[in-house]
Amino acid sequence: MVEGLISCSIVRRAQDKGLAEVYLHNLRDYATNRWRRVDDAPFGGEAGMVIGIEPVDVAISALTAQRNYEDIIYTSPDGELLTQRMVNRLSARGGNLIILCGHYKGIDHRIREYLVTREISIGDYVLTGGEIAAAVLTDAMVRLLPGVIGDEQSALTDSFQDGLLAAPVYTRPTEYKGWCVPEVLLSGNERKIAEWRMEESLRRTALLRPSLLAD
Ligand code: ADE
Repeated sequence: MVEGLISCSIVRRAQDKGLAEVYLHNLRDYATNRWRRVDDAPFGGEAGMVIGIEPVDVAISALTAQRNYEDIIYTSPDGELLTQRMVNRLSARGGNLIILCGHYKGIDHRIREYLVTREISIGDYVLTGGEIAAAVLTDAMVRLLPGVIGDEQSALTDSFQDGLLAAPVYTRPTEYKGWCVPEVLLSGNERKIAEWRMEESLRRTALLRPSLLAD
């Protein structure tokens, strides 16, 4: 699932340019039993299976023996909510990260108490596993690394980058079925265009995401 997401588009390009390295590790490769099992029934008689601490600890130890890591992140719906500000900070800090994907019934809580340094949620909904969340986090961070996006400006004018939604964009034709591009964008007046963009950003944010203005 994650392989597909990290081997195309911007994350692929970043790796091809040598600006980021992304490795996938299968927890089963770190299992210590001959069946390569990494989960077991929970104590206390609940339904479902729980990822055990041993393969996770063995995997983390193997990785940290090779490089230093800034954080060991666990993706989980009860983590800190991912925001653009958080992505900016993580991306700008650089260094290496381990992202441990959550599991639908959970992982032995000692992993979270003793091994993980940070827990991140990508939204208030529950996914089957943390793989998609890990891919979301990776994409959001990697695209901000200097040189990854061709046009350096484009990441700066993203929605949320200044706490506001982005202004609308248009391209040719100037009129289609009577639907017109705003005149100001065709005026060539850079100051007017910048003013219009800021007004539109504020208007759309107030309309669609008023809580961002309160922040
Ligand atoms: N795993 C399951 N749901 C998740 C979510 N919303 N965010 C991060 N990891 C998850």
